[in-house]
Amino acid sequence: MVIYNGCKYILNSTINQSLNSLKFAVSIMKNKTDNSLISSNIIVLIGYMGSGKSTVGALLADKRGILFFDLDQYMVEKHKKSIAELFSIHGEITFRKLEKEALQEVLRIDKPCVLSLGGGTPCYADNMKQINSVTSLSFYLAPSTDSLADRLFPEREKRPLISHLKSKNDIQEFVAKHIFERKNFYEQAAHTIRIQNQNPSKIVELIEKELD
Ligand code: S3P
Repeated sequence: MVIYNGCKYILNSTINQSLNSLKFAVSIMKNKTDNSLISSNIIVLIGYMGSGKSTVGALLADKRGILFFDLDQYMVEKHKKSIAELFSIHGEITFRKLEKEALQEVLRIDKPCVLSLGGGTPCYADNMKQINSVTSLSFYLAPSTDSLADRLFPEREKRPLISHLKSKNDIQEFVAKHIFERKNFYEQAAHTIRIQNQNPSKIVELIEKELD
């Protein structure tokens, strides 16, 4: 619990600081449209909902003394709406367009940083291709479907794709099928981190081993 609250604190404070840096970085980069000019200092974390991308991303950035950006959080700030509101107001197709725009903006940042994406971001349009053209430091965080279902069940109401599901079993079944559909995209990441029961700090260590 202490570790979890600690992570939440770091996550919240890092996200708040990062949003200001992100707005600044995006504003100075807004005329830059050629992705081939971009340095590859961005560590991108991808993976299914509940795989720990935001917590691990904030810890990793903190440990390496670099900026942290969370794409969902950036969209919330940009549109002044929660992710659930963006889904319900615009529908999923428009959400994916807004997500793609946001991704393009954050991929233009030419500062060393960690960027955690939404669970579906790599799986739409040519997003994964764009990510791989900008950085070779992409990591797929892959916990078991059992642990994803355990984590997602209590927070299902905040998550538009699973808010209709009633039981943990339903979530587990949905997650297994959905990951099967998305696997080809996730596996285009340069690195895959299989997660058993490791805590976020341990996952950061596993990522850092691949970075060294
Ligand atoms: C989604 C994952 C969510 C959020 C949206 C859609 C998905 O992000 O972008 O609810 O399609 O898997 P997290 O993975 O950060 O929860």
